[in-house]
Parts: sequence; structure tokens; C-alpha cells
Amino acid sequence: MKAAVLHEVGGVPRYEEFPDPVPAEGEVVIEVLAAAVENVDKAVAAGKHYASGKYLGELPMIPVFDGIGRLPDGTLVGFGNVRSPYGALAEKTVVPEGAYAPIPDGIDPAVATVLASAITALTMKTAAGLQPGETVLVQGATGVAGRLAVQVARLLGAGRIVATGRDDSQLAELEADAVINTAVSDEELQQAYADAGGYDVVADFLWGRPTQILLRALTPDTFAFATPTRIVQIGEVAGPDLAVPAAALRTSGIELYGAARNLTPESMGESYQQVVEWTRAGDLTFHLDRVPLTDIESAWQRTSSHGRRLVVIP
Ligand SMILES: NC(=O)c1ccc[n+]([C@@H]2O[C@H](COP(=O)([O-])OP(=O)(O)OC[C@H]3O[C@@H](n4cnc5c(N)ncnc54)[C@H](OP(=O)(O)O)[C@@H]3O)[C@@H](O)[C@H]2O)c1
Repeated sequence: MKAAVLHEVGGVPRYEEFPDPVPAEGEVVIEVLAAAVENVDKAVAAGKHYASGKYLGELPMIPVFDGIGRLPDGTLVGFGNVRSPYGALAEKTVVPEGAYAPIPDGIDPAVATVLASAITALTMKTAAGLQPGETVLVQGATGVAGRLAVQVARLLGAGRIVATGRDDSQLAELEADAVINTAVSDEELQQAYADAGGYDVVADFLWGRPTQILLRALTPDTFAFATPTRIVQIGEVAGPDLAVPAAALRTSGIELYGAARNLTPESMGESYQQVVEWTRAGDLTFHLDRVPLTDIESAWQRTSSHGRRLVVIP
């Protein structure tokens, strides 16, 4: 079969021939239809992720551990937990029986690779209880997940949406009511957050510096009756840490939640159903760059995504 094959840790996968996977007992071979390449996949292939040990044990190997494909009986599924050295960047891969879930009719396999990002945006409701009419701040709105979060906030009935990013032209593409460019001085950013606020719910894909400054902007200088701001922590592209000053919690209405708050099999199922319905109805726009497997070498080396998910079609 044809595959994207990685020969060295931290290398670039090459389009070439690779032996077909042979299923062991309890395994199934999947015909791969689409696989998204995310930063986590590059980190795994570079030996910099905790999952690197599991997937990089044997070289050469095929990167990316999940994707969308067909079972031998034709069922369209999302799969994960591939058996290394077989990954998703190939015409076929192999997974344990049951390491897949059906994809509903009417969902394009390439779109299916990013449904999880839209589902994550629903944590504005499940974790932070977003109500119609409330004001939402999306931190990191020009990324794949952030763009979906702006749309999901609108679909959930948000009254006002403020979106942050680092690039004015990308911010202008968003259907937000106000935008903030975070690539300014700390003082200017703090002022921009204060001027555009207050916020009922914050969907935070950034953490690090921008969210640190947001906390400062939400902390009153003098006594004031606090208005609640429910921050949902979802991603950390701007940094894994920030300092939470005691005063930021003591004197403000800041409430910090993780995206996993209130997550249960039932709430996950409901979020999934909701995203499938919106997708089928055409209510969500997914920003994808579809590339054939033959182009994997150049696609893998792209450094800027411009808010579009790279989806490889074998
Ligand atoms: N918990 C979950 O289930 C879940 C699901 C989906 C995503 N996530 C997380 O959410 C985050 C975003 O994912 P994504 O798929 O949207 O990523 P992405 O498409 O790569 O987008 C990243 C966004 O962050 C911005 N950014 C990058 N570095 C920054 C910095 N230092 N300061 C300010 N902004 C910065 C980028 O701006 P530019 O456009 O200017 O580069 C872009 O808007 C990731 O941490 C991801 O792991 C979590």
C-alpha cells in the first residue's frame, strides 16, 4: 500500500510503499479515508510527546494515530489507537476491534476529523452554563477550534461575541461583534480587554500571557461588587502556565473551570449529536486544507495553518 513513512525520530514522512497491515486476532484493518495532521502528531513524531514512546517504538513507522475510515463491512467510522508501526497516514491501518465509532450518514469524512473541536466548543455550555443572550469572549479565535467556538457561541444564542487573535486580517474574517489583537503591549491589551468587556463566559484556547493579562483586566483596582466571569480552560497554545494572583479571585467575579467539568458519557453524547445536527444542516463552516497523501512531505513541513486544519486524503 501507499503510506507516509517516517524513517527517523523528528524526520519528515515520505510518500512511499509500505507492507499492508495483517490483522492479528482481535484486530481489524481499516481503509483510511481522511486523517487530520495536528501539532500533537508532529510532537509524537519528533519524540516530544508522552505518547511518543507508544507510537515511535519501531521505525520506520506511519504517523498519526486516529482518523476516519471504513470497516471491512463498509461502515464509516472514526478510529483511534492504531497499532504501530501502522498509522493513519496510509491507505490502510490496523486497530483493535472496537477502537472505532460509527460516523453518522451525511458527514464528509474530512469534516469528521474536526468534529471533536466543535464538540469542545460546547463546553461553553456544559462546563460554564452559557445562557442565550450572554457575552462570550473566545481567546484564540483564529485557530481551528477558536473559529468553531465563535460559530458555536452564536448557535448557542450568545448575545455578544468578542474574539481575540494575533492577525487583523484573520480576525476580520470572524463573525464576531468585536475583536482584540493580542499582539500589542501588555498595557494596551489590558485596556482592550477592559474596553470590550464584561464577559459572562470565556472560551480559553490560549492560557499563558493573554489570559494572564485578561485576569488582570477583570480584577478591579478598587472595591466593586463583582460580576461573574466563567472562564473555561480548553487549550494552552500561548503557554502552559500563568500566575493567578490571590486578589484576582478574592476581589473579582472570576470563576475558573476546566473543559472536562460536567463531562459525562451522556453530556458528551448530547454534544456530539448537537454538532452532527448543526453540521448536517450546514450551520457550521469547517476550515480545512485537504491534501492528497502524495503531498505529505511539503504539507508536513508547513508552519502556519491560518486557522485551517490539514486533512490528508489517502
Ligand atoms: N481539550 C480539547 O478537547 C481540545 C480540542 C480542540 C483543541 N484543543 C486545544 O485548543 C488549542 C487550540 O487548538 P487549535 O486546533 O485551534 O489550534 P490552531 O488551529 O493551531 O490555532 C492556534 C491558535 O492560537 C493562536 N496562537 C498560537 N500561539 C499563540 C501565542 N503565543 N499567543 C497568542 N495566540 C497564539 C494562533 O494564532 P495565529 O493564527 O496568529 O497563529 C491560532 O489562532 C490547542 O491547545 C489544542 O490542544 C483542545
